[in-house]
Amino acid sequence: MKYMDEVAAIVAVKHTGKNCVTASVDRMDFYAPVFIGNLLVLKASVNYVGVTSMEVGVRVEAQNPISGAVTHTGSCYFTYVALDEFGKPTPVPGLRPVTKDEKRRFRQAAARRKIREAELAALRKL
Ligand SMILES: CC(C)(COP(=O)(O)OP(=O)(O)OC[C@H]1O[C@@H](n2cnc3c(N)ncnc32)[C@H](O)[C@@H]1OP(=O)(O)O)[C@@H](O)C(=O)NCCC(=O)NCCS
Repeated sequence: MKYMDEVAAIVAVKHTGKNCVTASVDRMDFYAPVFIGNLLVLKASVNYVGVTSMEVGVRVEAQNPISGAVTHTGSCYFTYVALDEFGKPTPVPGLRPVTKDEKRRFRQAAARRKIREAELAALRKL
C-alpha cells in the first residue's frame, strides 16, 4: 500500500508539475494473494481531475518470474490535491480522455467522486 501511494504521488506530480498531497484513499480491494518471490508491477493513471484535485488509480499485478504468469492482485483510488508555493490548493491541468479505457476510467472516477461527496455529507449529518 505504501508503494501504491508513492506511485500515485509520482503520477499526480507529473500531471500537475506541482507539489501534491494525498487528500483521501478509497478502500483497498485485494483480489488475489501476492506470493513470496513474485515481482510486483504497479500501474497508475490520472483518471479524473476536478478543480484542484485529481483521482489517481493504481493497479497492482503480481508476476511469477518463472512462469511469467501475471495476476491482478489489487486496486485502489487516491485523491491528490495540488498545492501552490504557499501550500494552498491550486488548479490542476485538465484531462482529455481519448481511448475507450480512458473514457471509462473518467466516467467511473466521476461517479466515485459523487459517491465520496455524498458519503461525507451523509456522515456529517449524523
Ligand atoms: C487536502 C487538503 C489540501 C485540502 O484542503 P482544503 O482546505 O480542504 O481544500 P478545499 O476544501 O478547497 O478542497 C480542495 C480540493 O480537495 C478536495 N478534497 C478535500 N478534502 C477531500 C477528501 N477528504 N477527499 C477527497 N477530496 C477532498 C476537494 O473536493 C477539492 O477538490 P476540487 O478543487 O477538485 O473541487 C488539506 O485537507 C490537507 O492539507 N490535508 C492534509 C494532506 C496530507 O497531509 N496528506 C497526507 C500526507 S501527503
